Amino acid sequence: MTQVVRTRAELRAALAALPRPLGLVPTMGALHAGHASLIRASRERDAATVVSIFVNPTQFGSPDDLARYPRDEAGDLALCAAEGAALAWLPAPADVYPPGFQTSVQVGPVAAPLEGAARPGHFAGVATVVAILLGLVLPARAYFGRKDAQQLAVVERMTLDLGLPVEIVGCPTVRAADGLPLSSRNVRLAPAERAAAPVVHRALMAALALHARGERSAETLRAAMTATLAGEPLAEPEYVSVADPLTMAELERVEGSALLSLAVRFGAVRLIDNERIG
Ligand code: PAF
Repeated sequence: MTQVVRTRAELRAALAALPRPLGLVPTMGALHAGHASLIRASRERDAATVVSIFVNPTQFGSPDDLARYPRDEAGDLALCAAEGAALAWLPAPADVYPPGFQTSVQVGPVAAPLEGAARPGHFAGVATVVAILLGLVLPARAYFGRKDAQQLAVVERMTLDLGLPVEIVGCPTVRAADGLPLSSRNVRLAPAERAAAPVVHRALMAALALHARGERSAETLRAAMTATLAGEPLAEPEYVSVADPLTMAELERVEGSALLSLAVRFGAVRLIDNERIG
């Protein structure tokens, strides 16, 4: 059974009764099989798994985007119970950001390009809320999906820079059978957009195939992704990137590891995906 807590006081009391080591799966709810895989990864390593469910207002660029974010508390709690999470923490905004809140994490260059450029302030919001969640739960490990590769890089950088006593665990992207990565935003795709969306993963696979055949020019890999996306009229690419996976700086040549990533709009829905080389 998953215990449900909301306030900081309830969280503190529940945490005191849990065995160690603790794993934290930070989420914004609307949980799906991708989140289930993070809970399972924690359950393999940790004595108890805490799932935080908090739609963090400070990482949204517009009130509309925040209001449209899917919410399903009953479904979330059912998934937490089915996966054997010990604790689900569903704080109100005032439990995360206490009255008079005024301290934030300032993120560096790793947060500037790609998602950071498209969504100003997003990663400062993410880093700050993750620091608060880690500080309140004090887990031994925290689990993040590799689908949000830049978020993972920002959180890893913050953890190292601030000396936070937690191991950050990146977990593989979970995909639908047609390659579309699972995301809480997928439910907002119209049927025709949903049918078109796997082009995003096909674009990444086209670049990976070129790389496997020996292509090392990052520009040629970007061009292969752009050309694949151009074949799908509903896909509106926002960026196509071949970058260093630690710094997120664009590469000229792929001689070692690289992160291939892209953001593509389908109508009102913006999807991101990535594949890593090396
Ligand atoms: O990836 C998410 O769901 C969110 O960005 C996170 C890490 C829970 C912070 O709000």
